[in-house]
Formats: sequence, structure tokens, C-alpha cells
Amino acid sequence: MTARPVPRPLGNVTRGTTSPNRLRRMDRWIATALAPALRRGHSPRPLAVDLGFGAAPWTAVELLQRLRKVHADFRVAGVEIDPERVAAARPYERDGLTFLHGGFEVPLPGGARPMLIRAANVLRQYEEAEVAPAWARLCARLAAPDGLLVDGTCDEIGRRHVWVAVGPEGPRTVTFAARLASLTAPSGLAERLPKALIHRNVPGEPVHAFLRDFDRAWATAAPYGALSARQRWIRAVRSLAGEWPVVDGPQRWRQGEVTVAWSALAPRVHS
Ligand SMILES: C[S@@+](CC[C@H](N)C(=O)[O-])C[C@H]1O[C@@H](n2cnc3c(N)ncnc32)[C@H](O)[C@@H]1O
Repeated sequence: MTARPVPRPLGNVTRGTTSPNRLRRMDRWIATALAPALRRGHSPRPLAVDLGFGAAPWTAVELLQRLRKVHADFRVAGVEIDPERVAAARPYERDGLTFLHGGFEVPLPGGARPMLIRAANVLRQYEEAEVAPAWARLCARLAAPDGLLVDGTCDEIGRRHVWVAVGPEGPRTVTFAARLASLTAPSGLAERLPKALIHRNVPGEPVHAFLRDFDRAWATAAPYGALSARQRWIRAVRSLAGEWPVVDGPQRWRQGEVTVAWSALAPRVHS
């Protein structure tokens, strides 16, 4: 009998940079975004995947902690394409937390379907043309109908963050999140755009127009900066919402966030 070859995980090993608490803004948003589906209660032991957790297991450990606040039985699987990083993470396994070797195929035991796949600072190291196929592959693994893929990018310590939320039907929203005290202008978030958008921050593309309008709204809201950076952000976003499909409200804006419909920022298709 010949042994069946083990299929190679889909994707490439890339830099493993990570740091504790880096993804707190994204985790917070995810916990809120999943809450309605959790209330519907389709899944008694919901599962989330931290895809590409990197050279240390921190982001998976923290995702578990934060999701357990919204559902006490949440489980997290950290999936990483570099087997040495998986081996280094295994000692941190505990109730509800496992680490697996794999790639975009997301090889969960028993073909389990996660409610969330979070890929933070993973796709930025791929080519733009690889993003849509990766999204399609990952979304095909999600639990229906509530599953969510979150693909985002942030700086080293998570002060600036941009992520796209993708459902089984396709991309839904883009969220911009920042530590406001250190934000000079909203366009400072441009360098953290996910791969699907970063090369589109050029004149003629919607995301470029959005950041230009956001900077204008931020400049007009400057007097509110005397109260606080948060008040200035809220004011700027409120005015931006008159021109762009902002889909969240003041409760999120207070956190230094704003979420916009993907359809308004999606790259132009050139024929
Ligand atoms: C920059 S680290 C990000 C670590 C962590 N997610 C964070 O944001 O701090 C990217 C990690 O993704 C892994 N990776 C890249 N492509 C992958 C894939 N297709 N499947 C699983 N892991 C992948 C890399 O090996 C690397 O360890």
C-alpha cells in the first residue's frame, strides 16, 4: 500500500511579524459584528479561525479572550502555513484554543465551518490579483449564512487599522480605525489599506476620493479638536456620512472607527 501524499497548504510562508494587543481594535469590532448572529444561536460552540497568526500565538490567544466575552463557548483555531510557527504555538493550547498547520484551504478537523476567519496582515504580502481568489476560497469555508471573513492590515502596534469584511455573498464593508490622539489626518490610514485597496489610492479610484473627502471633513472639523480628537473625528465622520454610505453610528465613531459600504470604495474595473 502506498501512503497518500499530504497535500501542500495553499499559500506562501511570509514574514511572521506580530505583537501582543496589536489587533485589539479589530477584535473589538469583530465581537460586535458577530453578536447578532450569536444571538440567533445557530451555533452552540462557535468557532473562529485566526489565519496566519505569525511567529507567536498572541493574536489567537487574545481573539479567544475577546470572543469569550460575547459567547462563553467560543473556540479559536490558529492556522499558520509555517509548521515551525505552529510547533512553537502548541504549548499555548488550552480549552477552546488549538493551533493547526494549513493555508487558505483552512483544514479544520471534521470539515468544521467557522463563523469567522480573520486574516490580519496576511494578504498584504501577496499580489493584488491573488486577493479575490483567496477571499473566494476562504468564504467557501465559512459557516452559512452568518460566516464572516475579515481581511485587514495594521501598523506594528495597532494604532492604524483598515479591514474589509467579506460575507459568503462577497465583500460588505471597509472599516477604518485609529488611535485618534496620534492621527494627523485620516489619509494617514492609507498606508494600512488592505491589499485589495492599497494600489487603488490614486486619483480616479473611489478609495482615493473617499480619503480626500475625509481629510476635508477632518480639516473643517478642526475647531472640535479643542474639545478632543474624538469629538473632531465624530464631527468629521458625521459630515462625511452626508456624501458616503457610512453604515455605522456614533457608538462606533466614538472608538475612532468608521465603517463604509464596500460598494462605494471598490476598485474601478478597467476594461
Ligand atoms: C505578518 S504575520 C501576521 C501575524 C498576525 N496575524 C498579526 O497580524 O499580528 C503573517 C503570517 O501569515 C502567514 N501566512 C501567509 N500566508 C498564509 C496562508 N495562506 N495561510 C496561513 N498562514 C499564512 C505567514 O507565514 C505569517 O506567519
